[in-house]
Amino acid sequence: MAKKTRKSTADTMPVADLTPEEAAGELARLAEEIAAHDARYYREDAPTVSDAEYDALRLRNREIEARFPLLRRADSPEGRVGAAPSARFEKVRHARPMLSLDNAFSREEVEEFFVRVRRFLKLGEADELAFTAEPKIDGLSANLRYEKGRFVLGATRGDGEEGENVTANLRTLGDIPERLSGRSVPDILEVRGEVYMSHADFEALNERQQAEGKQLFANPRNAAAGSLRQLDPAITAARPLRFFVHGWGETSAPLGATQSAAMRALERMGFPLNEHFRVGARTDDAFALYDMLERRRSELGYDIDGAVYKIDRLDLQARLGFVARAPRWAIAHKFAAEQAMTRLDDIEIQVGRTGALTPVARLAPVTVGGVVVSNATLHNEDEIARKDVRIGDMVVVQRAGDVIPQIVRVVTEERPKGAKPFEFPKVCPVCGSHAVREVNEKTGKEDVVRRCTGGLVCAAQALERLKHFVSRDAFDIEGLGGTTIETLYEEGLVRRPADIFCLHRDAARVDAVLARRRKELAAERARAEGKAEDEKKKGAARKSDKLVANLMAAIEARRTVSLPRFIYALGIRHIGETTARLLAASFESFTEVQRVARAAASEEGAREELLAIDGIGETVLEALADFFGEAHNREALAAILDEVRVERYTRPARIESPVAGKTVVFTGTLERLTRNEAKARAEALGAKVAGSVSAKTDYVVAGAEAGSKLAKARELGVSVLTEEEWLALVGEAGN
Ligand code: IVH
Repeated sequence: MAKKTRKSTADTMPVADLTPEEAAGELARLAEEIAAHDARYYREDAPTVSDAEYDALRLRNREIEARFPLLRRADSPEGRVGAAPSARFEKVRHARPMLSLDNAFSREEVEEFFVRVRRFLKLGEADELAFTAEPKIDGLSANLRYEKGRFVLGATRGDGEEGENVTANLRTLGDIPERLSGRSVPDILEVRGEVYMSHADFEALNERQQAEGKQLFANPRNAAAGSLRQLDPAITAARPLRFFVHGWGETSAPLGATQSAAMRALERMGFPLNEHFRVGARTDDAFALYDMLERRRSELGYDIDGAVYKIDRLDLQARLGFVARAPRWAIAHKFAAEQAMTRLDDIEIQVGRTGALTPVARLAPVTVGGVVVSNATLHNEDEIARKDVRIGDMVVVQRAGDVIPQIVRVVTEERPKGAKPFEFPKVCPVCGSHAVREVNEKTGKEDVVRRCTGGLVCAAQALERLKHFVSRDAFDIEGLGGTTIETLYEEGLVRRPADIFCLHRDAARVDAVLARRRKELAAERARAEGKAEDEKKKGAARKSDKLVANLMAAIEARRTVSLPRFIYALGIRHIGETTARLLAASFESFTEVQRVARAAASEEGAREELLAIDGIGETVLEALADFFGEAHNREALAAILDEVRVERYTRPARIESPVAGKTVVFTGTLERLTRNEAKARAEALGAKVAGSVSAKTDYVVAGAEAGSKLAKARELGVSVLTEEEWLALVGEAGN
């Protein structure tokens, strides 16, 4: 299934035209969206947007913040780098934060960088300003700590403040010396650089993965990240990773007076310095390296995504310092996304879990930046019409270092005679039900997505929903991955979620079906590899016995499920993990969630109860009411509840807190806390934070310029507190 992509910024309003309200709304959306992309990129190694799209989001955020500095959020993406580290490895606080780089996408922007630096340093045109220039390696950064010349700690960047301890894994890299010798090695030395995988090693790894029936890595960066963050260092050791040094962190003695001298010193200590590292004096020197790298990009043998320029003199670097997440003394000059031309052979319509019809372009295979591309996303119906993409057209495809290539434009001069405009199907290609574009009642606008109305009778939706139901953040049933559930669905063994919990009654058939499927897969693979089929089939059958036993055990282990996971597993539109958790925390039992959601269709009281939850609006309310309003959903749900026990949600136990269990509304501008901080602290003390005032509200905390909520509180006789009074109540005054 094609992954969701963001709304393009091209159809968003110019920053100059935004009202403060619109700007605040967009900054909130951007903060959330960028944080989600960061988490996918840094933590899950699975980006869903191209680097160019990501950069566009950040740029828009920066532009809005520049125009409305007072609206900058506490969780602004400008104040963060990457995402908080995942929980699997021990956390390590970096002695010096690991920062990021600002990007330049054109020569003008690079020139502006040098002008800015000169202005900041009050240098004249004629004054010399040397800089280093080197490739920007597309890998992941690591910090290597040496004490008295011994490698003692290796960490990933994480969120820039705290990374993950991957020392054992980094030790397996041949490029990373275990000991450093020589008189010039400082007692404490942190070396920073990029861990990457070469193209040759990446291809060999993917071949091995394929032969073993494992998932393929989308690109060398993901392969490197996935390999470095293995809990078993033996796995990392089996995957050849490499390292280029590009800087340093804490040092007990200076490495040199300039960036270049320090880098050469590190090279002498045994760290690989990129062969294209050089020192320049004029902007043209930077562009010469950039042009050469762009020309020779595909021959280098590893992925790069631009060049990095750093002011050479370290005393000047110190004067320049940092802004937010990046140094003022360095800039990354990024390559434009890579493009190629090819033929569009077909447009295939895929159907997702929520019935969304997604068009996917099938292309004549073409190499774009060293990777063969044969599919591209077309987003939706309007996008196809806007670009007037027709089957048979020659199209320009773009790949920007990520997973999903895109169609940039049609080369109309080469359009074959008789090519007809693409007609988007009005019925679902899987089940034949009508596919419609919903109309938003408030705005009167048509949804961009056309959806199948077949609900659970649509096999595509049913299957995607089942996959969602067992996925990691939902029921998390190990061993019930993509092909297994597809096989069980095709064989009629699992049609609805509840069927999963009845499989034990049919264990012998499950066994037979899965064993047959495995044999078919093994035979296919053996044919591809030219190996003896019989041998493989036997191996597959033996494995299958154990697999079924394990699968049954995994299913049994999930008969009790937490409330947030359960709500999320239902796959209700617009209810992701965060909203599921909000509902769980607000209603505490599934019975209660169900009661309110069902009543929301007709009772004002239930609607108010839902809308009072901070973070729940009309969209979620409608989605809940729709889901629980459908008879077939209620039946499917009742069947699940016959098999599964949903735990009550219990708030984490708190030490006595006067606000535990109370409902609080924050309004107006707070002085000492940001709104998010206030909310987080209140929730940590066991309070519920609501978005609107009702008779159920216990406290309204009113900051400056509080408006209608304050008035409503007075009207209803709800206690109103100032920020100071609130802090005194929760025992944080004067902190
Ligand atoms: S210098 C304080 N040099 O790019 C800045 N970074 O987008 C330190 N990267 O986090 C970074 N090649 O992981 C630097 N030659 C290079 C690089 C490089 C790749 C990565 C690095 C950094 C990211 C910023």
